[in-house]
Amino acid sequence: MTQTHVIDGKEFAALLKTKIADQILNYKQNFTPGLATILVGTNPSSQIYIKNKIKTSHDLGIKSYHLDLPATISEIALLAEIKILNEDSNIDGILVQMPLPDHIDANRIINAIDPQKDVDGFHPINAAALYMNQKGLYPCTPTACIYLLKQTLSSLRGLKTLVIGRSMIVGKPLSLMLLHEDATITIAHSQTIDLKTLCLEADIIVAAIGRPHFLRGSWIKPGAVIIDVGINRSLDPDSKKIMGDVCFEEALGRASAITPVPGGVGPMTIAFLMYNTLKAACLRRGYEVPDMF
Ligand code: GUN
Repeated sequence: MTQTHVIDGKEFAALLKTKIADQILNYKQNFTPGLATILVGTNPSSQIYIKNKIKTSHDLGIKSYHLDLPATISEIALLAEIKILNEDSNIDGILVQMPLPDHIDANRIINAIDPQKDVDGFHPINAAALYMNQKGLYPCTPTACIYLLKQTLSSLRGLKTLVIGRSMIVGKPLSLMLLHEDATITIAHSQTIDLKTLCLEADIIVAAIGRPHFLRGSWIKPGAVIIDVGINRSLDPDSKKIMGDVCFEEALGRASAITPVPGGVGPMTIAFLMYNTLKAACLRRGYEVPDMF
């Protein structure tokens, strides 16, 4: 039986947030970073994420601007709001919470955000920068996964890494980042045949599936490192519990390390959003980007 190390994302995030707050204080005489968040509609999960992002901005000395827009807003009206934020020199970062209502084309919205203010790293200019391994703003959740993996393993070189999920927010950008760390990548998704066999071959599994406790302990190669990106509500409607994609209890004693849910990747994602806001502010305003890794 392996002793499984539980990776404390909250503690790493606290450390990173302290460093970011110090740097913001450092630049106080020159500028205060500004982050604009946009929530369209009343999706309860999105409301919680946005609340967390606004609170963390305040805690770190980032000025927060929030737009709460009705689900019925037209695409044109939303594009007009983004244009105003693009042109506002106090705003360094713009985040439009996903998912958007069906009548709005998310790609059109993403493409309208000034790439210099795209703290989500979703704009094609930033996606291309990541693809080319060039400087840019990179997506927060994949950055959080890489950070936690490197804290746990120091080097990912050659390791067989299975990414489950191919979304624009996690799976795709994360796969590129892993490639840049010299890992050997497999990307699995909803159409993958025999996922269990792929899992059992992997030294590292990143689960970004979106289904509670989908990945079972018996699918994990003994000694593997597991990063659980899932933030799911329990299938039991009476339970308010947030569950990961991995059956955590079953992974204990089998994985060498695992991120818990909550308290793993989630807090790190927010910390990296704050970092991206500071980075965007420094780049746009002509100041040195603090290196804190
Ligand atoms: N919805 C789920 N994750 C994210 C994220 O990282 N950014 C945005 N904008 N929306 C999300």
